[in-house]
Amino acid sequence: MSDEFDSMMAGALTGADFAGTAAIVTGGASGIGLATAVLLASRGAQVACLDLSDEVPEPLLGLKCDVRDDAAVRAAVALAVQRFGRLDVVVANAGIGAQGTVEDNSDDEWHRVFDVNVLGVARTVRAALPALRDSDRAAVVVTSSIAAVAGIPQRALYSASKGALARTDVGDGGRRGGRRRTSERRRAWNRGHSLGGPVVGLGGRSGS
Ligand SMILES: NC(=O)c1ccc[n+]([C@@H]2O[C@H](COP(=O)([O-])OP(=O)(O)OC[C@H]3O[C@@H](n4cnc5c(N)ncnc54)[C@H](O)[C@@H]3O)[C@@H](O)[C@H]2O)c1
Repeated sequence: MSDEFDSMMAGALTGADFAGTAAIVTGGASGIGLATAVLLASRGAQVACLDLSDEVPEPLLGLKCDVRDDAAVRAAVALAVQRFGRLDVVVANAGIGAQGTVEDNSDDEWHRVFDVNVLGVARTVRAALPALRDSDRAAVVVTSSIAAVAGIPQRALYSASKGALARTDVGDGGRRGGRRRTSERRRAWNRGHSLGGPVVGLGGRSGS
């Protein structure tokens, strides 16, 4: 690696380019959400992690919140806005997995996964939009998945939930313009996957 690349990465990881910015990250107590929260904080942002668990390392603010509960989401977002005095970035990341073909999962399981993966995002963004409209740097990031666009065997329900997110406008309907990134779609094209969304066949058991 070149010296220039090394110094760019050092700047990227230690810079304070998020100073003065406030963020919430759902599912921020572990995995990708926690890593995102830590990175944002290391670059100067104030960050609240909304999760079933409120155990997060300082200086992150842990707020216990189940994204299946609209009142809880609204209360947690309001608390973060009150604490930080603003809200600029929403990372709607909380999600759960599901395995199986379309015939393996019951209606209850479909409702359970959509309640977290899809409605949870809607509840989070809905609660945050009023505060985001006051920001001069508002951004909403939704964690979808390659499963949204590449048909993956045994992931019918999970792919459907992530595919729904990939098609959802989480801004304010273009009222104030906005940026949109469809990274899963671009990556899928780059890797030469077919764009198919959920596999609703036999999950590869006997070809489909
Ligand atoms: N790990 C991967 O390979 C991968 C790949 C593509 C997409 N994703 C997506 O990335 C996101 C994070 O995945 P991860 O691998 O970090 O998972 P993870 O299980 O480590 O973290 C998910 C977090 O979400 C929280 N959570 C679950 N249900 C919740 C609820 N109802 N309310 C609030 N918080 C809730 C959990 O407590 C957990 O802290 C998910 O949306 C997942 O679908 C993950």
